[in-house]
Amino acid sequence: MSDQSGFDTDVWTLTRFIIETGRQAKGATGELTQLINAILTAVKAVSSAVRKAGLAHLQGLAGSVNVTGDDVKKLDVLSNQLFINMLQASYSTCCMVSEENQELIVTPRDKRGKYVVCFDPLDGSSNIDCLASIGTIFAIYKRVSEGEPAEEDALQPGSRIVCAGYTLYGSATLVALSTGAGLHFFMLDPAVGEFILTEKNVKIKPKGKIYSINEGYAKYLHPSINEYLKHKKYPQDGSAPYGARYVGSMVSDVHRTIAYGGIFMYPANEKSPKGKLRLLYECNPIAFLVEQAGGVATTGTQRVLDVQPEGLHQRVPFVVGSPDDVNEYLTFVRKHQ
Ligand code: AHM
Ligand code: MG
Repeated sequence: MSDQSGFDTDVWTLTRFIIETGRQAKGATGELTQLINAILTAVKAVSSAVRKAGLAHLQGLAGSVNVTGDDVKKLDVLSNQLFINMLQASYSTCCMVSEENQELIVTPRDKRGKYVVCFDPLDGSSNIDCLASIGTIFAIYKRVSEGEPAEEDALQPGSRIVCAGYTLYGSATLVALSTGAGLHFFMLDPAVGEFILTEKNVKIKPKGKIYSINEGYAKYLHPSINEYLKHKKYPQDGSAPYGARYVGSMVSDVHRTIAYGGIFMYPANEKSPKGKLRLLYECNPIAFLVEQAGGVATTGTQRVLDVQPEGLHQRVPFVVGSPDDVNEYLTFVRKHQ
């Protein structure tokens, strides 16, 4: 609906979308709406920090190494603190897992609610200093323990996700979100400070034309993967070879895969026998969103969302994308078993 000047006067903001979804859910108390709103506020603040990182001297290292051994950037630290503070202040979490914190983050007793959030506040941090796209990833679960929040609250399989999303700080800031009823895209309108619904019920193409992997690791990859990649480059059936794209920021590579179709892979290799990506706050939320768009997410041997987590920072091999592409990859895996 727009007035004579062409200004949309009945716009679907993400806040409105979440309120509406909450009202339709049976027995909803508004706590999830409160939590998602807190995440959105954190995301807007991170987006603003990302956009002025150079000017505000936020680029570069913060001088420490995180739990998985990566250099911690100043923006990582800032984003993590923003997330923890905003989420705890929403009175809707009991505990959280962050890529930047070794231990479970337990919400102070007087601020507790019934949700658990696993998040990577700023993924793709090696891309911060060269201004390539980076992202935030999160998954929300309902707590399962009674009494004090415990690790078992966070160690739930991805199939129990209540809501997941990612933010892409790219040429625009975009939120991809699902509460289990389809995947939707929202773009940040910086003038209004609101995310606006730009695509509802996003669907991934059954098959794409792009493969995405760090092929520099070819020497260390399993023969089944190298054989699959060779098949993409030298198809024997008369079809055209696939294009290759790899940003090195998963949110960016996955967003392109959802938008254009194709396959994104971070499989195990000799140097990283379990792959690199973390199950709780990287693979599970992305797998949930890709499945909501009609795609497939596998470890190579199992549906990602069915993996029973054993550790807060556990890694898994990760392959996602268009169903025909991922299923074709699986035929190469099976051939080598
Ligand atoms: P990070 O959490 O330290 O940023 O690492 C995760 C990122 C992903 O976004 C990306 O898919 C991957 O690391 C790239 O790793 P590599 O440089 O080994 O290809
Ligand atoms: Mg990460």
